[in-house]
Amino acid sequence: MNKIAVVTGGAGGIGQAVAERLATDQCSVILLDINDDAGNQVVADFRKRGVEVIFLCADLSQEAQVEATFAKIKSSQGRVDILVNVAGGSMHRHKFEDFPVKNWQAVIDANLTSTFLCCRAVVGMMKAQKSGAIVNISSDIAFSGSENRSAYAAAKAGVLGLTKTLALELATFGVRVNAVAPGRIDTPRVRASYTESDWQEANKRIPMGHPGAVEDVAEAVAYLASDAAKHVTGQTLHVNGGRIMH
Ligand SMILES: NC(=O)c1ccc[n+]([C@@H]2O[C@H](COP(=O)([O-])OP(=O)(O)OC[C@H]3O[C@@H](n4cnc5c(N)ncnc54)[C@H](O)[C@@H]3O)[C@@H](O)[C@H]2O)c1
Repeated sequence: MNKIAVVTGGAGGIGQAVAERLATDQCSVILLDINDDAGNQVVADFRKRGVEVIFLCADLSQEAQVEATFAKIKSSQGRVDILVNVAGGSMHRHKFEDFPVKNWQAVIDANLTSTFLCCRAVVGMMKAQKSGAIVNISSDIAFSGSENRSAYAAAKAGVLGLTKTLALELATFGVRVNAVAPGRIDTPRVRASYTESDWQEANKRIPMGHPGAVEDVAEAVAYLASDAAKHVTGQTLHVNGGRIMH
């Protein structure tokens, strides 16, 4: 039986790579994203390469939209075996004392509230199935902090606290919950936030000398989502070229 995998933020750089990697593992993949145009484009691009995925548009920081989306998935697929929470991003950068509450809330909602809501939407199903794997995308910034990105660092650290707590609550049900903490990954969004010279300089500070590729993150997710990781729960897998070691 194919596993049913839901990938949030599936229209973005890392989300697409995760979706394609899980599809290669014979999963039936459902992408969720707030960006309708980008989501439909990903479906069309994948189709050209012979990869079939379903896309559903939703703002995953909104409780009603998450509930309605997962109700649709439950009625069409009957189950969810794998949930990968990729949706998020650092979005707003401000000096701490100038951080507007509105922007703080937007970053927390996109990264942490979306993860909470999507996990909550599948927990009942996975407990009943007595199986399931959830992988949440955090960030190396949860460990290092990052100037002007207090909301993002807090949200991604929050994702780790949520991951460990949910792992404990679900351990006896055969449901595993883990996190991946990427370092700098070469996606269009990240690349666009650097000048060429800053990009080169920043990459010199990575011990391996270069940023990661989206496929590097996808491999880590695929492992944690697979039965090969059947005794691994509550853990964080770092994919950062040696930038941070924990
Ligand atoms: N690229 C990196 O260097 C890096 C490093 C560490 C962590 N991360 C994390 O990995 C994830 C993916 O990053 P990426 O570089 O692929 O970024 P990206 O911007 O390409 O992808 C993020 C996707 O999330 C979607 N999204 C945002 N808010 C949403 C919401 N409320 N509801 C539904 N979808 C929403 C966006 O539309 C986008 O398609 C993010 O959580 C990011 O914080 C990225």
